[in-house]
Amino acid sequence: MYKAYFKLSHNPFDLTPDPVCFVPTERHNEALAALYHGVRRHKGFVVVTGEVGTGKTLLLRCLLGLLKESKDVAYAYMFNGRLTPTEFLQYILSDFGLPAAGKSKYELLLDLGRFLVARGAKRMTTVLIVDEAHLLSPEILEEVRLLSNLETTDDKLLQIVLVGQPELDEMLDSVELRQIKQRIAVRTQLIPLNAEETKLYIERRLQIAGADPDSAPLYSPAAIGEVFLYSKGLPRLINTICENALIAAYAKRQPCVTPEIITSVAKELRLDIVHPSSTLKPAASNEVEIHRTMAALVDLYEALRKSNGSKATAGVPAEMEVSKHEPYI
Ligand SMILES: Nc1ncnc2c1ncn2[C@@H]1O[C@H](COP(=O)(O)OP(=O)(O)OP(=O)(O)O)[C@@H](O)[C@H]1O
Ligand SMILES: [Mg+2]
Repeated sequence: MYKAYFKLSHNPFDLTPDPVCFVPTERHNEALAALYHGVRRHKGFVVVTGEVGTGKTLLLRCLLGLLKESKDVAYAYMFNGRLTPTEFLQYILSDFGLPAAGKSKYELLLDLGRFLVARGAKRMTTVLIVDEAHLLSPEILEEVRLLSNLETTDDKLLQIVLVGQPELDEMLDSVELRQIKQRIAVRTQLIPLNAEETKLYIERRLQIAGADPDSAPLYSPAAIGEVFLYSKGLPRLINTICENALIAAYAKRQPCVTPEIITSVAKELRLDIVHPSSTLKPAASNEVEIHRTMAALVDLYEALRKSNGSKATAGVPAEMEVSKHEPYI
């Protein structure tokens, strides 16, 4: 309906992370290059984090598009971390095209090891890509860490790409996961777009959708300013606002989107209501925070104990000792 009205061939703000719609902002380009080179140069662990809706999954799909161009690359792509360790391994093997059903964890690891060694001997690239990695359970993260140990004297046999929301950063920065942290060779972040990038993003997506560059702009500069205000530069929100605004402009038979339309759409989407960030903090990150604080307290206690010359550890709450020395996850 509105596509014909605005003379567009596609929906410009579709929410599917489709590489065809990729707008190469500086940050997205840098992150894609870091991912691609990290994988192709066998760096081992590569991590990308970013707020909800900044384009992480789209970035991964662009990476897959690039990797598919090389015949010597095989990858397993997973986006569901809620599996048992055996299911996790079964999933990876199946994605690599190896038989996995009914096999024990030991058999799965053996098969995977053989597969990786055979590919490594031919200098081929094998990648495990995990989207939504912030949802990985502690058990699966431990499996990931163990898989990262699969290496020869001069090469990493499995490249691991972890992509997730900022909670993943907090998890990887925690004392408990320092073993994984030390293995990360490339770590990059996606951040929201700035005002100028938001403008270029909207224009580029309209162009990809077939908007005539010689016609009057569909969004006035003031309207784009409002989109930036309410979306805070988050691409998914930009898409949602812009699409709803096009529909509203079409319903009013207006030739373009005005700032008033954006304000009213943002209100309908309740984007004018801002929660204090603390109330939005997920439980998982609070947990990480608690353990980090406890570890810091234990460090402090140890320092105090040493400076007092005392040998005893009595007085340290049992759970604090555990959090310092044993991974809680
Ligand atoms: N650089 C970009 N070019 C074009 N579209 C983009 C870009 N970045 C993000 N988008 C669009 O923004 C929307 C959200 O992107 P995506 O789903 O990749 O975000 P995400 O970071 O994976 O979000 P989540 O944390 O919820 O998984 C999609 O419609 C995607 O196409
Ligand atoms: Mg995603």
